[in-house]
Amino acid sequence: MTAQETIQVRVVKKQAEAEGIASFELARVDGAALPPFSAGSHIDVHLPGGLTRQYSLCNASHESHRYRIAVLRDPASRGGSVAMHDSVHQGDVITISTPRNHFALHPAQRTVLLAGGIGVTPLLCMADRLARTGADFALHYCTRSAERTAFAAEIAASAMAPRVHFHFDAGPAEQKLDIAAVLAAPGPDKRLYVCGPAGFIDHVVNSAKALGWAQDHIHLEYFGAPAQDTSGDQGFDVRIASTGKVYAIAPDVSVVEALRKEGIDILTSCEQGVCGTCLTRVLEGEVDHRDMYLTDEEKAANEQFMPCCSRARSKLLVLDL
Ligand code: FES
Repeated sequence: MTAQETIQVRVVKKQAEAEGIASFELARVDGAALPPFSAGSHIDVHLPGGLTRQYSLCNASHESHRYRIAVLRDPASRGGSVAMHDSVHQGDVITISTPRNHFALHPAQRTVLLAGGIGVTPLLCMADRLARTGADFALHYCTRSAERTAFAAEIAASAMAPRVHFHFDAGPAEQKLDIAAVLAAPGPDKRLYVCGPAGFIDHVVNSAKALGWAQDHIHLEYFGAPAQDTSGDQGFDVRIASTGKVYAIAPDVSVVEALRKEGIDILTSCEQGVCGTCLTRVLEGEVDHRDMYLTDEEKAANEQFMPCCSRARSKLLVLDL
């Protein structure tokens, strides 16, 4: 559940961008300007059937007449991408949230953007912004093949073109991503942004750390959360510090869901441990962290957790609510 403001928008254009990828251009039903956004922002899309999914905005961030998102049809996902492809059509009116940004650009002398597949969407918006401001940057865009590369023609025709490098898994060796070369010579005035599937992000982040990049200069956004093994999950109790009341959390129910049923709403967005919206302070007990948002150091400190996905190792968690 989220208290985020919503907007009614029309799908003014739906278009195939690559194999399995469609873009959706959204404009306000009443024709007014959309709320402003910054590069790296995403919106929640409320889908037919009650699903809510987050998609990054991939149009230029100075535009106010449209938001554009792009969606990879992934039958193995939790249903959102298939619903977008099969049930949302040009001309439809849908509900979205106002934009939020958990993946904002920081000032830097040089910015390196690394995109894996559909993870290009927020980075495309960043690259446009950096190109418009004359910043020093490079975008490395890794996909399986040219046919699966969304926005390739648009990029080639844009001002960012000289700074974009395409890397196809199916292509010749000399065009493959040389991660050691791309991430060589880290420095305090350089920033790295990476977005894509979990395996891609892990590879980039591990490589960056091995090459000496500081963790707080590496910014990442997962495209969907990696699958968790939940087969051994146990129930535990949560105590709300302000009331002293204790609630049982069943093995197959998240803390957010269990508390919501009791009338205690924690603000959420992704409900996958990616966005950070549900961050909650922990006063007692040991957390079983399952999110991708907190750093390793923050997880080890055991002072806060993501109740949309994380659980408890101890019998009881006391939350600062
Ligand atoms: S709602 Fe996004 S991390 Fe919990």
